[in-house]
Amino acid sequence: MQKNNGPIASKEQTAGTRGCRVVILGTGGTIAGTAEDASDNVGYRAAQLGVEQLVGAVPALAAFQLETEQVAQLDSKDMDFETWRRLALRVEAHLARPEVAGLVITHGTDTLEETAYFLQRLLAPQKPVVLTAAMRPATALQKDGPQNLLDAVTLALDGRAGGVLLAFAGQVHSAEQVRKVHSYKLDAFASVDGARLATIEEGQVRWLGWPPVAQAGLGTSLVSALTPNVWPRVEIVMNHVGAQGSVVRTLVAQGLVDGLVVAGTGNGSLSASLEAALREAQDAGVCVWRSTRCDAGPVTASAEALPSAGALSPVKARIELLLTLLQNQTQARAA
Ligand code: SIN
Repeated sequence: MQKNNGPIASKEQTAGTRGCRVVILGTGGTIAGTAEDASDNVGYRAAQLGVEQLVGAVPALAAFQLETEQVAQLDSKDMDFETWRRLALRVEAHLARPEVAGLVITHGTDTLEETAYFLQRLLAPQKPVVLTAAMRPATALQKDGPQNLLDAVTLALDGRAGGVLLAFAGQVHSAEQVRKVHSYKLDAFASVDGARLATIEEGQVRWLGWPPVAQAGLGTSLVSALTPNVWPRVEIVMNHVGAQGSVVRTLVAQGLVDGLVVAGTGNGSLSASLEAALREAQDAGVCVWRSTRCDAGPVTASAEALPSAGALSPVKARIELLLTLLQNQTQARAA
């Protein structure tokens, strides 16, 4: 991707030399949700409409070369490792097609940032993989899905876009920085530390700065052959007033975890009781990482403290730890 604070490119210019087809993968979510009553914004069922119906509901999308594929149909609170595995392989397969400029994935908002981070860490694609979603069902008076979908296709065709991105409420976020920050508002996502990448206004992408340099992807071979029961088990625990170590001790005693991410207070601080239990877990062979329950900012590393998860949110630190444990397993098998 290149910085562009200059003239805004037209739709024709942005297709570049990548091909001009966009593949839209459906996974469900509120964007595909329906309610009995158009004025009901919360009493709906997610994942009811197919991705083809979502595309058909946006007349402006008829101008683009699109292809659709239903990879899953679920409420993203129920997203699972097997769907992630299948999705990553489908994304990889479509990205390899020269005629494909980029991909769009329709997803629920609730775990979108986790799927985005997972795909970015595995694939780190040169072409854009744009997730999008909605806060209102497809039947709502004020539905946001159609515009978000149109914006996502626009972004997928922008020759300067790359990596796993989110197009939502006219904003473009990176997989690394994005978090869901509101449970109800239409503008429900934000980039940590103001790291928003671009805006989309009336079909025009306006880049705001240099996009981050992507780390190389780990590759889908890490997960392609995994059955759901062999994924490492990583749980998240939280520090809070009166936090005790008993939850951690129970998880470890029952052999339920390979890794633990603790969402600490402030700069990753922990109550004495929770810290003692986490150190016992570490001694018992459980990999423990310390993150923060704050909305933004890193946990600074120190030799005395439990390992830091850097600036990753607890849910993204969990994915990073999961992938680290998978890499360790692969290396141990190869040795
Ligand atoms: C979901 O995450 O699938 C439901 C909620 C939403 O999409 O906003």
